[in-house]
Amino acid sequence: MKILMAASEARPLCKTGGLADVIYSLSKELVKQKHEVSIILPFYQQIKDRFQLELTQIDSVVVKMSWRREIANIFKTDIEGITYYLVEDRHYFERSRLYGEDDDNERFAFLNLAIKEFLIKEKMQFDIIHVNDWHTAMLPCMLKEDRVNYDLINKPKFVLSIHNPAFQGMMDKYCLGDYYNLPDYLYDNGQVRFKNTFSTLKAGIVYADKIIVVSPTHREELLSNEGGMGLNDILNYRRDDFYGILNGIDYEEWNPLKDKFIPYNFNGVTYFKNKKLNKIELLKRFNLKNYDKPVFAMVSRITWQKGMEIALPCLYLLASKGCNVIILGSGEYAYEQEMENLRRTFPDNVGIYIGYNDELAHLIYAGSDIFLMPSLFEPCGLGQMIAERYATLPLVRRTGGLKDSVISFDGLNPLTADGFGFDAYNVEAINNTALWALENWENIPLRKLLMKNAYMTDNSWKKSAKEYITIYKDLLNK
Ligand code: ADP
Ligand code: GLC
Repeated sequence: MKILMAASEARPLCKTGGLADVIYSLSKELVKQKHEVSIILPFYQQIKDRFQLELTQIDSVVVKMSWRREIANIFKTDIEGITYYLVEDRHYFERSRLYGEDDDNERFAFLNLAIKEFLIKEKMQFDIIHVNDWHTAMLPCMLKEDRVNYDLINKPKFVLSIHNPAFQGMMDKYCLGDYYNLPDYLYDNGQVRFKNTFSTLKAGIVYADKIIVVSPTHREELLSNEGGMGLNDILNYRRDDFYGILNGIDYEEWNPLKDKFIPYNFNGVTYFKNKKLNKIELLKRFNLKNYDKPVFAMVSRITWQKGMEIALPCLYLLASKGCNVIILGSGEYAYEQEMENLRRTFPDNVGIYIGYNDELAHLIYAGSDIFLMPSLFEPCGLGQMIAERYATLPLVRRTGGLKDSVISFDGLNPLTADGFGFDAYNVEAINNTALWALENWENIPLRKLLMKNAYMTDNSWKKSAKEYITIYKDLLNK
């Protein structure tokens, strides 16, 4: 099959979170399973700054946005058997960051328009166009509403993956015409209307042939009133075409046996000894010396979604008990400041790194004991799976993909459990679970067993990628 992934970020070129990991690692697995995969994304300034790519400019398309005209240059390069198409535009994509700009709605409208123009001009024939989140969710609508051109490119089928349903691409009704050149009646008849705005994510759900969310539990949550984020009605309407497939992680990038960023590589035999050595290196990085105390760590976007409200009091509790706390992340300023306050209060056992750092992330996964992910909601979550691969025990709130990927230790399941979990989103629940984790961590034979269980968990893409392929194939046989 010929598959085009359209996304706003993809490793190894750019990443702010799990979306970039998934686009790349799923694509690699699809290539391994003999499919032809291309990825199309913006040619951001930071890609230009960080990579010396071997690029070929293959096209220049005129993008019409209402009365405006702008040229997008399309470049092509090859990475690990995947073709990357990069959409270049100085005005929209050469900024210091990927998102968070006032004109994000317009920037990603431009991306969709440029992709559409490119597909049509070059008569590109893909079997499947797989769009991701609100940024690229308009493509199914734009192409299906343009019948002649949709026929011209041989009517590819559309799959929409929802990675983060909290971002719904909501904007004023006038943007439908002003950004996307689409007629008002698509709003008036409800196709793209959502809570009295125009929403690109809603449009994606309506027009895609199949919709996937990144874990089975989050599918159920999204179909419910309480967890549906307002999308439950439209998703229930599409429920027969709506799937929950658990993400995998990249087993090449996250491989404790070969990881170049960690000083002591390990396997299922050496994990216990070598993780302790990695822990010492990790603590040294932060000038901490409590080698005999456990390390509780987080590597995360620091935002409300990730449960910072309940994580902070719990981190205070742990630090007050002398445990080490190490945080790597960036996001909302108020939480970043609270993290700094925590460090100032407990300078001997708390280390905070505000920012993004791939190399340090590897060392934290390898050198910590317990990995916290108390998310308010979590469509899938990759951190807990990476932690498992590094024999670090996740402590999670049992929501979305966290529920699907961690077996909580309840005192009776030492042969299967690979972490700790709680349900209620409150400080009491997380604190009790942290204390429970601490108590069990002190039991060394049990600790070894749980760590081994975590290490042995299969979080690779092999199985999940097959589920994607089945969905793609079903569509082609329709
Ligand atoms: P989300 O996509 O919602 O941010 P995920 O758990 O799916 O959450 O994916 C987060 C990914 O980003 C993981 O690979 C994690 O290691 C990585 N990550 C998050 N914050 C940082 C950071 N500050 N530095 C390095 N890697 C980070
Ligand atoms: C989103 C979600 C996260 C998921 C990732 C990749 O960023 O917040 O839960 O793992 O996408 O699908």
